[in-house]
Amino acid sequence: MNNLGFPKEFLWGGALAANQCEGAYLEGGKGLSNVDLCPAGENRFNVMLGNIKELKPLVNESYPSHEAIDFYHKFKEDIALFAEMGFKCLRISIAWSRIFPNGDDKDPNEEGLKFYDEVFDEMIKHNIEPVVTICHFDLPVALIENYGGWTNRKLVGFYENYATTLFKRYKDKVKYWMSFNEINMLLHLPFMGAGIRFKEGENPTEVKYQAAHHELMASALATKALKEIIPNAMMGCMLAAGAVYPYSCNPEDVQRAMEIERENYLFIDVQAKGKYPGYGKRFFRENNINIKMEDGDLEILKNNTVDYIGFSYYSSRCASVDPALLTDGNVFATVKNPYLKASEWGWQIDPMGLRITCNQLYDRYEKPLFIVENGLGAVDKVEEDGQIIDDYRIEYLREHIKEMKEAILDGVDLIGYTPWGCIDLVSASTGEMKKRYGFIYVDKDDKGNGTLERKKKKSFYWYKKVIGSNGEEI
Ligand code: BG6
Repeated sequence: MNNLGFPKEFLWGGALAANQCEGAYLEGGKGLSNVDLCPAGENRFNVMLGNIKELKPLVNESYPSHEAIDFYHKFKEDIALFAEMGFKCLRISIAWSRIFPNGDDKDPNEEGLKFYDEVFDEMIKHNIEPVVTICHFDLPVALIENYGGWTNRKLVGFYENYATTLFKRYKDKVKYWMSFNEINMLLHLPFMGAGIRFKEGENPTEVKYQAAHHELMASALATKALKEIIPNAMMGCMLAAGAVYPYSCNPEDVQRAMEIERENYLFIDVQAKGKYPGYGKRFFRENNINIKMEDGDLEILKNNTVDYIGFSYYSSRCASVDPALLTDGNVFATVKNPYLKASEWGWQIDPMGLRITCNQLYDRYEKPLFIVENGLGAVDKVEEDGQIIDDYRIEYLREHIKEMKEAILDGVDLIGYTPWGCIDLVSASTGEMKKRYGFIYVDKDDKGNGTLERKKKKSFYWYKKVIGSNGEEI
């Protein structure tokens, strides 16, 4: 009870995802992924929703993620910069189609496995603990073409085989795992989250929850396999989180806020508590949703819950039953909170919401929490003398770190913090480069021009101090 600050072993670091940083989208034997088919520009959102006819890149579209920031070739340089900031951990994801180019291949692609071996070795050389997302919006296209993506039960087996291959190969290198990035985003971006393309006459909600059940089964089976192969490893879920506030004290607004939260919690209730919650069963019953399950599914879910709750936090949300208050959000319609400012992309900034979210999640699950994404997407300017003075980013992160400390004082068991896009990368929602999150600037613009040179921003030096003082000097 003596130390009321960040625990000594707190995992300070940063987070990346394969498809947003690696590039080299067809190199080293890699197959095509769903995310390789999401273009920048006005069609992006449509594709992420599943409105895509041909499962191949189109000549008249641009795909920034194909080259991204070329982490595939530059990872040594980048990891050295993370080490210079003092990172204790680095969250990366593995591109499924680097390991199994078609998803259902008999043998894994050795070149892909070797690439991540080298990445992990480089981290370990610098005393950086790898934190690995097995699937970050990333699905081999052949699994969509031949099986219909996560709507097909067979995907559970393919994923289990993929995850098991990773556990066996990296068992001496990786302790922290996460099964699916922002698993609840499947409801909002079904092609991106689950490779879903709806057929005519289908009940889309039913299709999404069926796919969700398959992902949840895959997550539980991966957790089981992990414990058998690496007994001291930790499996986490990953929720796109953010407390939902009622817009007013009208009980109908309060009820609406609870419903929206539960839509997200449903996934984590299954992964962390091991069962479908009563409110979920009611929702299925009343919306004609019949989830096909196999004998033993509920048992598997019950016996293989996650060890920690990973989550992203960018903002809180507001809920109201008054349709006039709804505005178009980046990914889904939201109600603007009049008390909060917003980023250039309209994401409302609410540091205290992080403390509230931490408390809610900890009260609900009583498992360690890991904030695996947080940050400010902003336009950065390179000054004539080469400096990048991103005080707005420092301010955003500082205020959030203060609230993390409050959450720890509240009794929350918080094990780590990996701000998103610790080096600039391609935005998931917009495909832009100019929406930057990094402590490290990458010279590349939205048209693909630039040298890919890395430059330290002002926040680089600031974060280094934060880590060096274990969160005392912010
Ligand atoms: C999360 C994703 O939704 O938010 C990341 O896990 C994503 O992949 C991040 O990049 C920030 O969103 P965006 O759209 O600003 O890149």
